[in-house]
Amino acid sequence: FERSVVHQRLCWGALYLLAAGVALTSESRWLCPPSCRCNAALLEASCSSGQLPSVPDDLPQEAKLLNLTNNTIKTLERRQFHTSTQLLDLDLSDNLLAILEAEAFLGLQSLLRLRLNHNRLKIIPVGAFAGLANLQLLDISSNQILVFLDFTFSDLASLQFLKATENDLVFISRQAFTGLGSLQELYLDGGNLTAVPTEALAQLRVLRRLHCYRLGLNTLPNYSYRPLVHLKELVISHCLWLEALSGNSLFGLNLTSLSITHCNLSAVPYIPLHHLVYLVYLDLSFNPITYIHGNLLGDLLRLQELHLIGGSLLRIELGAFGGLVHFRSLNVSGNLLTTLEGGAFHSVDALKTLGLDNNPLACDCRLLWMVRRQPYVDFGGRRPTCATSVQLQSWDFLEFSRDELQTLLTCRQPRILNRKPQEVRVDQGHTVEFHCSADGDPVPSVSWLNPQLRLLSPDGRIRALSNGTLEVRYAQPQDSGTYLCVALNAAGNDSLTVSLLVRAFTSTSRTPFRLKGWPVLPSSPPDRAANEKLPFDVKTLLIAATIGFFSFFSSVSLCFVFMLFWSKSKGQIKHTATIAYVPRSAVSNGGTSNRQETSRFTMKLI
Ligand SMILES: *[C@@H]1O[C@H](CO)[C@@H](O)[C@H](O)[C@H]1NC(C)=O
Ligand SMILES: *[C@@H]1O[C@H](CO)[C@@H](O)[C@H](O)[C@H]1NC(C)=O
Ligand SMILES: *[C@@H]1O[C@H](CO)[C@@H](O)[C@H](O)[C@H]1NC(C)=O
Ligand SMILES: *[C@@H]1O[C@H](CO)[C@@H](O)[C@H](O)[C@H]1NC(C)=O
Ligand SMILES: *[C@@H]1O[C@H](CO)[C@@H](O)[C@H](O)[C@H]1NC(C)=O
Ligand SMILES: *[C@@H]1O[C@H](CO)[C@@H](O)[C@H](O)[C@H]1NC(C)=O
Ligand SMILES: *[C@@H]1O[C@H](CO)[C@@H](O)[C@H](O)[C@H]1NC(C)=O
Ligand SMILES: *[C@@H]1O[C@H](CO)[C@@H](O)[C@H](O)[C@H]1NC(C)=O
Ligand SMILES: *[C@@H]1O[C@H](CO)[C@@H](O)[C@H](O)[C@H]1NC(C)=O
Repeated sequence: FERSVVHQRLCWGALYLLAAGVALTSESRWLCPPSCRCNAALLEASCSSGQLPSVPDDLPQEAKLLNLTNNTIKTLERRQFHTSTQLLDLDLSDNLLAILEAEAFLGLQSLLRLRLNHNRLKIIPVGAFAGLANLQLLDISSNQILVFLDFTFSDLASLQFLKATENDLVFISRQAFTGLGSLQELYLDGGNLTAVPTEALAQLRVLRRLHCYRLGLNTLPNYSYRPLVHLKELVISHCLWLEALSGNSLFGLNLTSLSITHCNLSAVPYIPLHHLVYLVYLDLSFNPITYIHGNLLGDLLRLQELHLIGGSLLRIELGAFGGLVHFRSLNVSGNLLTTLEGGAFHSVDALKTLGLDNNPLACDCRLLWMVRRQPYVDFGGRRPTCATSVQLQSWDFLEFSRDELQTLLTCRQPRILNRKPQEVRVDQGHTVEFHCSADGDPVPSVSWLNPQLRLLSPDGRIRALSNGTLEVRYAQPQDSGTYLCVALNAAGNDSLTVSLLVRAFTSTSRTPFRLKGWPVLPSSPPDRAANEKLPFDVKTLLIAATIGFFSFFSSVSLCFVFMLFWSKSKGQIKHTATIAYVPRSAVSNGGTSNRQETSRFTMKLI
């Protein structure tokens, strides 16, 4: 009996001690506020989704994490959390916060992470973050912040990560980022920002990663990011108006990763990029870029990856990735490419991933290299398909056996059509055309070489038209010679020579020079006698034609009349006249450009 009493007492005693122990460890500080759930072991208090209109009083003092997300808190008062000095994490996202008083977080000297995203903040008062000397992460995204004032973040000397996307920023003050001496990552959303906040960014001495969304710019200005010498990753995206990068816009940067996506670039910004010799990753997706030109990316020595998804690419020229020995990944899915030749790469053997799906590919011999490399290349689960070949229509052509493909992926060498010897003799000043058209598969390119074997361009007096015709206007004796038409495709070439002989005017066969199709001058032409006696030098006329006939002739005739009188009165003739003119095009653009170069030339008089 006594034993049992002793047992009972011991039992009660033990229970009492246990209860006292529990009470001692959690202490009165772990009185959890009614709407919260607390985890004493982890020192976490979660008051989320409790429809709390304000921060609860009597917050547990020892808590390391306080989660107040998804409530209806509207205001944070000064020293709102001064009792929770041990907090490391504070989550106030998804509330209705509109008012943040200065020193709201004073006392949270241990706080590492603060989340204020998805609230209704329009402005952050200077001093709001006072006392947060150890804060490493701050998320103020998805608010309605319009401006960052000077010294807004000046108390956050340890901050490493700042996310401020999805705000309505229209202005970032010059000193806004002063004090952020440890910031490594910044995510900014331009809203309608019309300038890169270069001077504010200049405060961020150790920034390594910068994402800028929705900048309202047409052109990225020179030296936009100049002071950011440690920046490694730059992302510019959703800039619907951004059409170009100034030549020096990325000057001063030493990036390894650059993305400019969902913008309005119509060309690869070769010049702004060329100094980025440490660049490894380049993403220009969702820009209306039409070409990747040959041999213009060669300066990017270490480039490994290029993404240009969802663009308007029509062609990747041969040599596009020439010189890029480390290049191993290309993703150009969702473009308008009809082919991708192995010659675009420095070496196709280095290529490890290739995204080429959703392009209207012509399946011919130009893709044979891909068949050969197929076992070693990752097509990202979406392999290229044929759009044009009848037999291979919409087939994943890489499914075919190699032997089949040798017969299916074929090309036909170019053949120049209607070839007959063309030999033309004309008098000086006439216009001559030579035709050259070719067929083949793929459709060959036709080009013309002059007698000196130089490639003729589509403009100039002697020009190769895009339909294959060579046009020699106002033929000159020195144009005489043998011209060569070359038709070229992936399967080979064909060529055709034509010859031209231009007879010069001689003293016996001189006839008045007329240009067909030119309008009759409404104003009085130069002295008729002089005109018949000695026609204009053809070269002069051509110059006249290029500057604009009327302005030229009115000034010339004025000069002539003037000189006629002058020579009659003086009784002697001056043989040259210098005429200054302002090109018409420059005058008509005069409103926007000041480049009214005055040109001069000398012409001979009778
Ligand atoms: C937010 O809280 C409400 C109740 O206040 C709840 O119905 C809703 O599911 C919560 N949302 C999330 C994302 O937790
Ligand atoms: C706070 O709670 C929400 C919902 O319970 C959760 O999604 C969120 O991650 C929590 N925040 C932190 C910092 O743990
Ligand atoms: C930018 O400005 C336009 C009109 O000027 C407005 O419709 C749009 O909402 C603004 N965007 C932001 C993010 O403020
Ligand atoms: C994009 O650029 C083209 C010209 O390159 C221009 O016509 C178009 O309006 C631009 N789009 C926007 C949204 O500015
Ligand atoms: C930007 O720099 C380039 C290269 O020095 C220069 O040609 C261009 O005129 C500059 N643009 C502006 C707007 O200053
Ligand atoms: C550029 O960055 C690379 C690595 O990202 C580094 O090795 C190199 O020293 C840097 N160059 C300069 C001039 O800072
Ligand atoms: C190319 O990009 C698209 C779209 O992001 C992706 O689905 C595909 O897997 C990528 N291809 C490769 C080979 O990485
Ligand atoms: C090519 O175009 C020019 C003018 O545009 C024309 O004179 C010529 O006849 C054309 N050539 C052919 C082969 O159609
Ligand atoms: C044209 O083909 C011949 C061989 O048929 C080749 O020697 C020559 O280099 C080719 N010319 C061009 C411009 O490709």
